[in-house]
Amino acid sequence: MSTSLITNIGELTTNVGLPEGDRFGTLHDAAVLIDGGRIAWVGSADAAPVAAPDADAIIDAGGRAVIPGFVDSHSHLVFGGDRAAEFEARMAGQKYAAGGIRSTVAATRAASDDELRARLRGFLDEMLAQGTTTVEIKSGYGLSVADEERLVRLAAEVTPEVTFLGAHVVPAEYADRVDEYVDLVTGRMLDACAPHSRWIDVFCETGAFSVEQSRRVLEAGVSKGLLPRVHASQLGPGDGVRLAVELGAASIDHGTYLTDADIAALAASDTVLTLLPGVEFSTRQPYPDARRLIDAGVTVAIACDTNPGSSFTSSMPFCIAIAVRDMGMTPAEAVWAATAGGARALRRDDVGLIAVGARADLVLLKAPTRIHLAYRPGVPLVEQVWKDGVAVFAAPSKARGTENRGSLA
Ligand code: NIG
Ligand code: FE
Repeated sequence: MSTSLITNIGELTTNVGLPEGDRFGTLHDAAVLIDGGRIAWVGSADAAPVAAPDADAIIDAGGRAVIPGFVDSHSHLVFGGDRAAEFEARMAGQKYAAGGIRSTVAATRAASDDELRARLRGFLDEMLAQGTTTVEIKSGYGLSVADEERLVRLAAEVTPEVTFLGAHVVPAEYADRVDEYVDLVTGRMLDACAPHSRWIDVFCETGAFSVEQSRRVLEAGVSKGLLPRVHASQLGPGDGVRLAVELGAASIDHGTYLTDADIAALAASDTVLTLLPGVEFSTRQPYPDARRLIDAGVTVAIACDTNPGSSFTSSMPFCIAIAVRDMGMTPAEAVWAATAGGARALRRDDVGLIAVGARADLVLLKAPTRIHLAYRPGVPLVEQVWKDGVAVFAAPSKARGTENRGSLA
């Protein structure tokens, strides 16, 4: 693999804390050397190793900003159909309820592998063009042994961060037999899905699974070598956060309705709180107060939660803009949460930062500073993206010389 140098970077966000106290590790007039898919050197452009690359492999950032590729640690990308009419009704006043998931289950079961795969790859293209270089993908729209196996298998074709979410909701055919469904999830379904998965997840919420049922699901997954993460406190307060912290989950996701005790428990734990601003946006729920959470010592990530029901955006910049505008985060905190925070939520130390040895996953912005991600909402600000050191996306004006892979896959 070749070597390349990105130089003349006006603002480089490394996420490696500096001795002077900037925990975002912001460098100015910087350069980054990429070698063999990894970052080989980071520092001042003046001091960049000159032995490096031939002229073709020198990228002049023109004084613009470079950040780590986004780490989107929560998505549901394998599904059929959409729920545009449900969204329209919600905007006219109808409430969001977990039950809508079942209509996507029917559409997903009816779709072929190739249809699901084509859709999935389309979403990955969208994400890459918006700067996402790592994505976690959950099952949860199959809810039978064969369909859940299909969804984790298709997800595993495109990412190592696959989550088995057989306990998303109770499917209609088990409506009055919830415990039997939990037996299935923790038995044959888990056996079929564990080989394709790294994570086990459950929707611990009124209308989905109780805290006792959630514990069974998570513990069964852990016994098969999967790592726990939990959907909780999305529709109202509950005991999901307490359970997640007790089981050492990597992340609890949503946290729209947290109690003081939840916040204290999270602050004292290694469990990341993954905020999903697109969900509050698309379901008209109140935005969580990220300022209060960060000030209390909670580690916060931001993810898109791309799914056809509660949040059909794949744009991390959009979620960053909401987190800044409506959740009280600074732009630097929001970019950290969307990169390093996501990496923590996935227990990864090779992504979400720009440091020697890390994966060379980088985004060159069409902007002088990361602040523009919130300051210019809705504007496509991604100029160029590298994944594992390969130029995989470039805005049309820059497209020459990229591999034009056009996909995260
Ligand atoms: O993360 N909370 C549960 N699951 C998804 C929503 C799924 C849907 O509405 O289809 C979520 O928000
Ligand atoms: Fe989700």
